[in-house]
Amino acid sequence: MQIEDVTVEKHDDFGGGYRLLVLRAPGIASESVPGQFVHIRVPGLYESDLRRPFSIYHAGNDQVRLLYKAVGTGTNAMLKVAVGDTLSVIGPLGRGFPTDHGDTFPLFIAGGYGVAPLSFLAQVMPCKGVAFLGAGTASDIFCVEDFERAGWEVKVATEDGSMGSKGLVTGVLDDFVEGYGDPTGGSDKAALEYYGCGPGGMLKAVGDRALAQGCQGWLSLDRHMGCGVGACLACVQKVRNADGDVSWARGCREGPVFDAREVVWGDNE
Ligand SMILES: Cc1cc2nc3c(=O)[nH]c(=O)nc-3n(C[C@H](O)[C@H](O)[C@H](O)COP(=O)(O)OP(=O)(O)OC[C@H]3O[C@@H](n4cnc5c(N)ncnc54)[C@H](O)[C@@H]3O)c2cc1C
Ligand code: FES
Repeated sequence: MQIEDVTVEKHDDFGGGYRLLVLRAPGIASESVPGQFVHIRVPGLYESDLRRPFSIYHAGNDQVRLLYKAVGTGTNAMLKVAVGDTLSVIGPLGRGFPTDHGDTFPLFIAGGYGVAPLSFLAQVMPCKGVAFLGAGTASDIFCVEDFERAGWEVKVATEDGSMGSKGLVTGVLDDFVEGYGDPTGGSDKAALEYYGCGPGGMLKAVGDRALAQGCQGWLSLDRHMGCGVGACLACVQKVRNADGDVSWARGCREGPVFDAREVVWGDNE
């Protein structure tokens, strides 16, 4: 983990209502793995205001790339950041996705900015799989080309039917799995392995499927964060270990990526 004062090299519209922020951050870039995040002090907010967490969209060549959408106080203030500005950034933080997945066939399921870390993962994974991207409407779908360039098949679902299949992303996922054969693998097929990043309801649906099918699942949980470094416990998630014992894990340290078998849903207060 590094605390760096980094320079903004690019800040542009990206698509899907998102902005692309490119930072010159050699230390953070060299350590980052997909699924980790950075914690940014947003200029224009009070010193005492919390930093804001953002998934690493890509890291390499001394740069860290982020995609963000202006949804509130901090992200609206970020719109004012200009090329050449200096930002205080802590990262990379948290536990990312595993990339040493053996001989499984990876399925990525993404909604919203969840597409960012999964795009990064698609670039570094040694094998190719299928990326399922879901959104309300076509203009909210982005990064399709990232996956295609990395040799992945992409399946899109929109709730209004304006792009890809009409309905939830789990619909196209279920169709694919039904056609695949045995999800746990057979003589000529690899077992499926699920990687989810997006809204909580979607993650639960993905985790439920992985468990019901006897497959490995990895879920990046978006917990509200305070310190981002394990000290304040603002981000805790109820988890269950292999013996069935329930405890709390910190989204910013033990997560944000959790094994689907660990997550205890709907009881985090
Ligand atoms: C590990 C992690 C990775 C993230 N990666 C990205 C990313 O790559 N791109 C991106 O655009 N955003 C990402 N976020 C969410 C981003 O941090 C929030 O959008 C941001 O904190 C909101 O700050 P704000 O001050 O603009 O909004 P606020 O004014 O604080 O809140 C505006 C609205 O957003 C909701 N909100 C705030 N924080 C979160 C959160 N963590 N999850 C869900 N809803 C929230 C609030 O409840 C409120 O309704 C990530 C969050 C986490 C925890
Ligand atoms: S955000 Fe403080 S412990 Fe996780």
